[in-house]
Amino acid sequence: MKTAIRSAMLTFKKDPFFHEMDECLVYESDAVIVMEGGKITQVGRAQDILPSLDGVEVKRYTDSVIIPGFIDSHVHYPQTEIIGAYGEQLLDWLNNYTFIAEQGFKNKEHASEVAKVFLKEQFRNGVTSSTVYCTVFPQSVDAIFEEAEKYDMRIMAGKVCMDRNAPEALLDTPQRAYDESSSLIKKWHNKGRAEYVITPRFVPTSTPEQMEMMQALAAENPDMLIQSHVSENVNEVAWVKDLCPKAKDYTDAYAQYGLVRPRAIYGHGIHLTDRELSVFSETGAAVAHCPTSNFFLGSGCLNVKKLRDKNRPVHVGLATDLGAGTSFSMLQTMNEAYKAAQMNGTPYTSLHSFYLASRGTAEALGLQDKVGTIAVGMEADLTVLNLKSTPIIDYRMKYAKDLEEALFIQMTLGDDRAIAATYVAGKEVYRAN
Ligand code: GUN
Ligand code: ZN
Repeated sequence: MKTAIRSAMLTFKKDPFFHEMDECLVYESDAVIVMEGGKITQVGRAQDILPSLDGVEVKRYTDSVIIPGFIDSHVHYPQTEIIGAYGEQLLDWLNNYTFIAEQGFKNKEHASEVAKVFLKEQFRNGVTSSTVYCTVFPQSVDAIFEEAEKYDMRIMAGKVCMDRNAPEALLDTPQRAYDESSSLIKKWHNKGRAEYVITPRFVPTSTPEQMEMMQALAAENPDMLIQSHVSENVNEVAWVKDLCPKAKDYTDAYAQYGLVRPRAIYGHGIHLTDRELSVFSETGAAVAHCPTSNFFLGSGCLNVKKLRDKNRPVHVGLATDLGAGTSFSMLQTMNEAYKAAQMNGTPYTSLHSFYLASRGTAEALGLQDKVGTIAVGMEADLTVLNLKSTPIIDYRMKYAKDLEEALFIQMTLGDDRAIAATYVAGKEVYRAN
């Protein structure tokens, strides 16, 4: 069945970090997007499309703009219950909050309950796709895939592999990590829009023997996503240096096992050295930028412009990193990313931010042919932003002199209230009222 929506529309066809904005930005003040079979089948100016749409009901959104659905490239669904846990930096925060909460996911019922809350909250925030850490328990992976399947959501998720430096109850073994990941791959990978992600938590929690098993999984599945953490916190970086005296650096501790490659996405990367950034650039691996988390845990400020350097480009995805991240909102994530950029003295415009949150993140995940852009043939994952979602935004918008300023107001002041509707695979999964 055909459905159609009408409003202003904003999308990108190229990367504005590397090309003139005119070549990248597609903006239509009155557009119609037609969806059928989960895909976008027509898109263009309302006046051009409407005459061909006999009988198709067109849902119209005023004071709004339709954008590609947000993609969260690094998020821990089991940490939904510990968002906003006070006062510690990464390693204490993991021990005192995270590793306790994750033990509850042995219970499938609990996992399913949290998965429901998590996806509902993502849709309320216009997030249509995400790359998700589960826990060490395979049933926690089943729970999120089962829930996402109900919406035909493009979800990427994996069992967290960890066999040291955590409570006994959260540890697997090298063999179990391999076996459980393998059977989850058989069960879920490419089932509908689901993709499996090979997920060693981070170097401190995987022995060299477990890393060898991750290497084997990665070699057996050369196109599969890989996710982990790198260079988030200075104490963590020092610990990895002690744990891996033979590795050149933190990145090398993954690269030695073939885990730095296209479609490998590493959370944070704040303290990566120039050598490490070169390895990321040469291999096509990506960094997931998690600014709300980085501020919350006092980890530091990633320099996005340094990564998006023409001479040594590194893919950057935007991400919430809940529950160290403090918001499901990608608008708030963009807001905090801007502040991190300011702290580095290297800010970028709102249009760059909206690019990063859509096509940029899709490219970091190797999904740019499927999601992240509004165009014919792309999957119909769309978010409708209400441009007047609060009294102060409504007031401030009267003084916006152009599109760039209007979008900057949205990402600075907007949050879940700015989401008018969310469409996943062409179906409305959330509507504000
Ligand atoms: N490093 C290893 N595990 C985690 C986690 O769960 N959250 C964050 N922010 N960093 C990590
Ligand atoms: Zn994380």
